[in-house]
Amino acid sequence: MSLIFRPLFEKVSSTYTYLLADSKSKEAIIIDAVHETKQRDIGLIEELGLTLKYIIETHVHADHITSSCPLKKKFSDAKIVLGEGNPVACADILIKDGDNLTFGKYKITAMSTPGHTDGCVSYVIGDKVFTGDALLIRSCGRCDFQGGSADKLFDSIQHLFTLADETAIYPAHDYGGRTVSSIWEEKAFNEMIGGGVDRAEFVSRVNAMDLSLPAKIHVAVPANQVCGANIISNG
Ligand SMILES: [Fe+2]
Repeated sequence: MSLIFRPLFEKVSSTYTYLLADSKSKEAIIIDAVHETKQRDIGLIEELGLTLKYIIETHVHADHITSSCPLKKKFSDAKIVLGEGNPVACADILIKDGDNLTFGKYKITAMSTPGHTDGCVSYVIGDKVFTGDALLIRSCGRCDFQGGSADKLFDSIQHLFTLADETAIYPAHDYGGRTVSSIWEEKAFNEMIGGGVDRAEFVSRVNAMDLSLPAKIHVAVPANQVCGANIISNG
């Protein structure tokens, strides 16, 4: 008996959703579930006979709408988890740096990683870390809205880099089809911070990102501040 680990993908926003469960106790968690793919995720949870314990968000997303609230409506014992830095009334648990949660025999440890947004949290589970938009494969999250700060993100990524080199990195997005990286790879090859880039250079690289606003930001952020509750009736 072991860890059930199912990476899932939402192709419109290139978002990864991660379903993890203890195969013996069947207790499960889901990280960064997306509105558009909620029926797929509900179907998989039911098919595998899992008991959803935690619905976890790495942050309040700007590019897609969460399915947290609809999932909680379906699996009423599940608790919605967000970082304490998020002004979100729909969360059951506002988690702090170093706090632990469990599912079956597995432990989740919250690591506060602000910078992309002020409330970003990464989650360490054994030899895996779920980094949200703090640390992406060969890149990092933008810092130009939702309380973002390149200076804070530099510290957060240094904090992530204290994890064991072999730790596998699972980000919230990848736009090139990559699925997993590792701490040692990103320390060496990350195009924003790898190879020992210093704080000033990192901040200047982040500030030079030339990105348009996410198409859904004016819909997604208010919707996600209520965990997607206001779109339940839309399916
Ligand atoms: Fe984000």
